[in-house]
Amino acid sequence: MASLADLFKTDKAEGLSELFVAQLKDIYWAENKLTEALPQMEAAATSEELKSGLRKHLAETEGQISRLEQVFTLIGVEAEGIKCEAMAGLVEEGQDIVSETQSGTLTRDAGIIAACQKVEHYEIASYGTLTAWAKILGYEEVSHLLHATLQEEEATDMTLTHLAETFVNASAMVE
Ligand SMILES: [Fe+2]
Repeated sequence: MASLADLFKTDKAEGLSELFVAQLKDIYWAENKLTEALPQMEAAATSEELKSGLRKHLAETEGQISRLEQVFTLIGVEAEGIKCEAMAGLVEEGQDIVSETQSGTLTRDAGIIAACQKVEHYEIASYGTLTAWAKILGYEEVSHLLHATLQEEEATDMTLTHLAETFVNASAMVE
């Protein structure tokens, strides 16, 4: 019996590669959306720690966009985004949190961290899948590029957890 990987290499390869391209366009749109949303979150945040974390992730996001552009070039597809409804919703949720919390409070930071972690988890799921699919489709170099971004998203998620655990959540409790 053929393994799943064998199936993808043969008759299913076309379907999977179409899906791969569609998902790439989705995350490309999502990353571009984040370059608009991250500065807004940074402006709304209270603590310098969170502000600098968001600034760092904005710079990383710009690098991730160039990496995606390299991926598009490598597979010979024009780089273009297709609206990612999930990311649009997650960003909107982050904006709601900002408008529901007081400026200058750590409660707001706790909320922003929660919203950003939801975004990171969406990205981790996306890049994890894309990395695996690239490998199955035989795109070695593409898979390495996507994996590099996956690791950055995982590190950002951990940084946010650390920030929340070290001071934001506890301080927000006493506000
Ligand atoms: Fe990202």
